[in-house]
Amino acid sequence: MDPGLSSFTPHPVLSNHRSSLNPSPQIVETSSRASLRPALQFAITMPAPQKSRVTGIRNAKQQAAKQRSAREQQPKIIEEKSFETRIPPETQQLILNLYRNSFAERLASDIQPLLQEVKGHLFDRNFKDAFGREDYLEAYAARWSPSRALGYLGVLWRMRESLDLVQPSADDTAEAVERSQNSYRIACLGGGAGAEIGTLGGLHRLLSDEHKENEGGLPKDLEVVAIDSAAWGNVVEQLTQQITIPPPVSKYASAAVKAANHSLVDPTAFKTTFHQYDLLTVDPKILATALEGVKLVTLMFTLNELYSTSRSLTQQFLLRMTDALAPGAMLLVIDSPGSYSTVTLNGAEKNYPMQWLLDHTLLADISGGKAKEEEKLWEKLQDDDSRWFRLDDRLEYPIELENMRMQLHLYRRI
Ligand SMILES: C[S@@+](CC[C@H](N)C(=O)[O-])C[C@H]1O[C@@H](n2cnc3c(N)ncnc32)[C@H](O)[C@@H]1O
Repeated sequence: MDPGLSSFTPHPVLSNHRSSLNPSPQIVETSSRASLRPALQFAITMPAPQKSRVTGIRNAKQQAAKQRSAREQQPKIIEEKSFETRIPPETQQLILNLYRNSFAERLASDIQPLLQEVKGHLFDRNFKDAFGREDYLEAYAARWSPSRALGYLGVLWRMRESLDLVQPSADDTAEAVERSQNSYRIACLGGGAGAEIGTLGGLHRLLSDEHKENEGGLPKDLEVVAIDSAAWGNVVEQLTQQITIPPPVSKYASAAVKAANHSLVDPTAFKTTFHQYDLLTVDPKILATALEGVKLVTLMFTLNELYSTSRSLTQQFLLRMTDALAPGAMLLVIDSPGSYSTVTLNGAEKNYPMQWLLDHTLLADISGGKAKEEEKLWEKLQDDDSRWFRLDDRLEYPIELENMRMQLHLYRRI
């Protein structure tokens, strides 16, 4: 679901079709400022260990089995407990500042009426109008991309080791050094609105900070390719500039403050390109060229939109993308938990979870069964049905931002 739609009542046409744009009671997003508990408090989400009144090994075993079964019946929800300790709030604030500075004029004006118009179009699934005007695009990116950027950053930061983002150290074997290139290409599909751009700027910064503290290798240079059907070129460009130039400082700032004012990322280490393509209809050769050498593909809050447009075109697109990627490439899919798409099978309409359709395309053989070892094109590395990202209360932004809940799936091309 699009974050801005959480306060809408379901549109009658959409009310029995849970899609990325259809609010459902399972997908709740809360406002950060009003409702967040102090940052450290939400780290304590696990119930305290209970003292058992039952004694004896047999009873203890039965108790454990009961607890296990109760646990298994619970929806798999992983709380992002320790983002504050993993990602310093100062770095998170730097990322929010990218959006504040990129869209300073828009945020200084009365943005609410514009946001209402955008929400209205999204709610009517009228994407052409929602993403059809420059002022709408800026308003959307200023309002919804910052918190998503932080949410995605937490996810990528946790999986950084699997992603192979750092250059090998001098004591690594020559073969490993040869295999690894200094640059790392990432394709953000449906990534024009800039959340992923801010995430990747932040990720490079975190890796560089870790390297400076002698805790990790030098990060590879990031080459980000954003592909989207709407004309997000200016948004991508403005964010890239903010990532690669020092942020504005007051002319009255001290010489020391001015001297310490650096860009989030070294401009030589972070490049972006934007392509305005419709993923479902783009020429397969053009898609293959855009995906050449890509190590990570992201589909953030986009796949369910694609499925809602056309399941069969989405399936074809996923297979073309699979063809274009080399073994070892990763695919990260994030979307609203509980996203469903209506699929017609044998003349009957049925709702399938997005994740089921995705697994069916990537992991099944042509008859629909589980692919045999030698036929496998993808392996699944991670699967979370529902995960919260909550904003730290200490962060500041000119307008209200929202916490988010997401499902996430990580695959590796074999
Ligand atoms: C809900 S927004 C998500 C934006 C961003 N990825 C994020 O996570 O904040 C969905 C994005 O997918 C794009 N999109 C939808 N259908 C598309 C298609 N067929 N081809 C390319 N992009 C598409 C939209 O233009 C929009 O930018």
